[in-house]
Amino acid sequence: MNGIYFSGTGNTKYCMEVLTKATGGKAFSIETRGALEVLRISDEIAIGYPIYFSDIPRIVKMFIVEHADMFYRKRVFVIATMGLFSGDGVGLAARLLQKYGAVVTGGLHIRMPDCIADVKLLKKTLEENRTLILVAEKKIEQTADGIKRGIYPKDGLSLLHHIAGLFGQRLWFKRHAKKLTEQLKIRTDRCIGCGICAAHCPSKSLHIENNKAVFCPGNCTICYRCINNCPTKAITLIGTDVFEQCRFENYGEEKTT
Ligand SMILES: Cc1cc2nc3c(=O)[nH]c(=O)nc-3n(C[C@H](O)[C@H](O)[C@H](O)COP(=O)(O)O)c2cc1C
Repeated sequence: MNGIYFSGTGNTKYCMEVLTKATGGKAFSIETRGALEVLRISDEIAIGYPIYFSDIPRIVKMFIVEHADMFYRKRVFVIATMGLFSGDGVGLAARLLQKYGAVVTGGLHIRMPDCIADVKLLKKTLEENRTLILVAEKKIEQTADGIKRGIYPKDGLSLLHHIAGLFGQRLWFKRHAKKLTEQLKIRTDRCIGCGICAAHCPSKSLHIENNKAVFCPGNCTICYRCINNCPTKAITLIGTDVFEQCRFENYGEEKTT
């Protein structure tokens, strides 16, 4: 099975690579043209994304809406990665896809290292993060075995999951999360104008002006990629200090191509 994904800091990319490799397919980022091509030619596809405040990333929602016709009658398996809890993480895309005529075959929730770099409370030890990845890998490989036999897990798809996601977090954070898309902070005393943040930004919300990074609010998908890649830790979003930059490759060797 081929897969398409959005991944801010590498977790979802890795999970999708493990699943597609184990089911004989390939994974493509929705930021590349390959994703559209593989979506066009595949009868069955997996879609993966991280959970942000029990919600689907804006960039993923836009991708589905903009290419709704390509999902019509397609069999779609949904993967949602998260640091701790999402309730109906899979259900978020599933309901949207079903609205556009897709057949959702199932879904998988996977716990991965938390990518929020500027909240100390969320930080785990290297060992804990490595263990999370090993557990995730096993879960995905078992899922792939099931899929090959026509058995699909149904994480996050029930009404109970929907209620848990909505009332457990989404409603609570909705306004807060919307505000955050406009609140990226850049410490100009630390910014060296290297442009790494702008080059990484999936929503083109950053550019360099007079040797300093400038943030243009509106399209930010709050993926934390700029924050986690800034060499001088000059960017924050929820907190005011970067405690540990999180990228998947920090937690172990990549095992897939
Ligand atoms: C802004 C933001 C909000 C998040 N909210 C949640 C959440 O509500 N529940 C959760 O379990 N994880 C949450 N996370 C953690 C990510 O879902 C998790 O680290 C994910 O695996 C990141 O995937 P990626 O590396 O592919 O971007 C959040 C991360 C960010 C950046």
